[in-house]
Amino acid sequence: MSETFKTGTVTGVNGNLVSVAFDESVIQNEVAFVITEGNERLKSEVIRVRGREADLQVFESTSGVKVGNKVEFSGSLLSVELGPGLLTQVYDGLQNPLPQLAQQAGYFLKRGLYVTPLDREKLWQYTPVAKVGDVLKAGDTVGTVPEGIFDHRIMVPFAWPGEWTITEIIGDGNFNVTTVVAKATNGEETRDITMVQTWPVKVPIKCYSERLFPKDPLVTQVRIIDSFFPVAKGGTFCTPGPFGAGKTVLQHALSQRSEVDVVIVAACGERAGEVVEILREFPHLDDPRTGRHLIDRTIIICNTSSMPVAAREASIYTSVTLAEYYRQMGLDVLLLADSTSRWAQALREESGRLEEIPGEEAFPAYLESLVASFYERAGLVKLKDGKHGSITICGAVSPAGGNFEEPVTQATTKVVGCFLALSRDRANARRYPSIHPLDSWSKYPSIVSTAKVAKAKAILREGNEVNQMMKVVGEEGTPTSDFILYLKSEFIDRVYLQQNTFDKVDSACGAERQEYTFNKLLTVLDKKFDFEDKSQARTYFLKLQQEFLDWNYTPWQSVGFNEAEARIDKMLADA
Ligand SMILES: Nc1ncnc2c1ncn2[C@@H]1O[C@H](COP(=O)(O)OP(=O)(O)O)[C@@H](O)[C@H]1O
Ligand SMILES: [Mg+2]
Repeated sequence: MSETFKTGTVTGVNGNLVSVAFDESVIQNEVAFVITEGNERLKSEVIRVRGREADLQVFESTSGVKVGNKVEFSGSLLSVELGPGLLTQVYDGLQNPLPQLAQQAGYFLKRGLYVTPLDREKLWQYTPVAKVGDVLKAGDTVGTVPEGIFDHRIMVPFAWPGEWTITEIIGDGNFNVTTVVAKATNGEETRDITMVQTWPVKVPIKCYSERLFPKDPLVTQVRIIDSFFPVAKGGTFCTPGPFGAGKTVLQHALSQRSEVDVVIVAACGERAGEVVEILREFPHLDDPRTGRHLIDRTIIICNTSSMPVAAREASIYTSVTLAEYYRQMGLDVLLLADSTSRWAQALREESGRLEEIPGEEAFPAYLESLVASFYERAGLVKLKDGKHGSITICGAVSPAGGNFEEPVTQATTKVVGCFLALSRDRANARRYPSIHPLDSWSKYPSIVSTAKVAKAKAILREGNEVNQMMKVVGEEGTPTSDFILYLKSEFIDRVYLQQNTFDKVDSACGAERQEYTFNKLLTVLDKKFDFEDKSQARTYFLKLQQEFLDWNYTPWQSVGFNEAEARIDKMLADA
């Protein structure tokens, strides 16, 4: 065995950081295995090379690792396997399929046990696309197999340089992923193409012809997002908020309701049970877009409680690489990372062990550039066949105490296009989703009229001021006109910004319905009211609010807009 690997010897152990002396050359970020006395092979990554010594970050517990233990260097960078069968999978940060591992080793995982990410036995119904004689490049389509509701493209491996002429091609049929489906030559050598290829996770896949500016809305069906703080297909957004504010619930809603093809969930659990919960619940969620199960077009990357911090870092890169793979097929992918603060903490721990000069709050000085390069892997691209594909990234950030001035939130704020501030106060008041309408912002275009949104935002701001003032002077001391402003702002909040995530109808507010409802809302906001007193005003708004809420819970496909319009118009007229 040792002949095929470069080897080294452990010279020191500091938590998950293992120092190794070696004789030959070692590559930065290459994968190595530390071999324990019990013959366990612990996967690790070279994170620093200093002369004839390398520092390895081990993805497993290093208990029992001793000075003198052997290390094998693999010569390859930390990579993922790409091919049909990724959808529906639950992986850990190193792309080990968790259910299979769990079967082999019981929850949670045994150290040093790795399983191939893609099933080697499963047969896929293959259809060739390329012909003998075609000249192709990396990322071009060779054939397709159906996966879930898509045609999964089998492509020329992304790492192949230059042009390749197809010399042989297999016909239609059912094959496993390692079957050679085509052969190709570049004039110097002939290579096999199978349905599976590998790609290093820290290197972006760039087999597209052009990056485009994200401007089309990604409809999430969450009103406060789509109308007030919109997200673009191929854009980036973050959901910072204190513990318990609703970040995870919001991300689940986004995974279920967003108008995208593929969902990738990168879960770094904050509570111990959270990851188990995801594993238990996710496979049973309905998919309102297809009538099937959401898991059919989802990949989950989970950090298990037995895995040390290093695996958290890997899971971020693994998930975005899988997203790039599906984008390359012309699909729209939503990547939800929960929570990027856990990732940053892993970086901080590693950096501490490496005794690097710390930046703010002991995070590494390069935190900002790592955060930026993660979000940069989002984007809308034009593929060589003219089709578009996109990755939209949403990162949850969980700053201690909800303090947005801390380094991770700050680094994220600098690079994202949309900032959805989750608020403790709103969560406490059960105003869900707890996105704060005054602290959030977006650079992307809304699905409703910008001028009207600006008007609604102004009322929210002024209503808030009146409310603050009322706390001092009381309701009696507040002029009726100001009080009406306050009631209007509460009205917007109650009937539009708040939305019941757990109600089938209210949680799914598509673009058409949002536009319609928003315009109706605006007719109320534009109205000049002439109330005798505050109590009359309050009664009126409460009644109107009830009418709008009824509408929010009514499936409009069954009543239609016309009937709804008649109802609301009558209400407005009656008042
Ligand atoms: N949209 C929502 N509707 C109703 N309850 C919610 C909503 N969002 C959060 N909650 C409540 O708050 C709790 C914490 O939410 P969670 O998303 O886990 O917080 P975080 O991920 O920010 O720590 C949930 O278990 C739920 O009880
Ligand atoms: Mg959470």
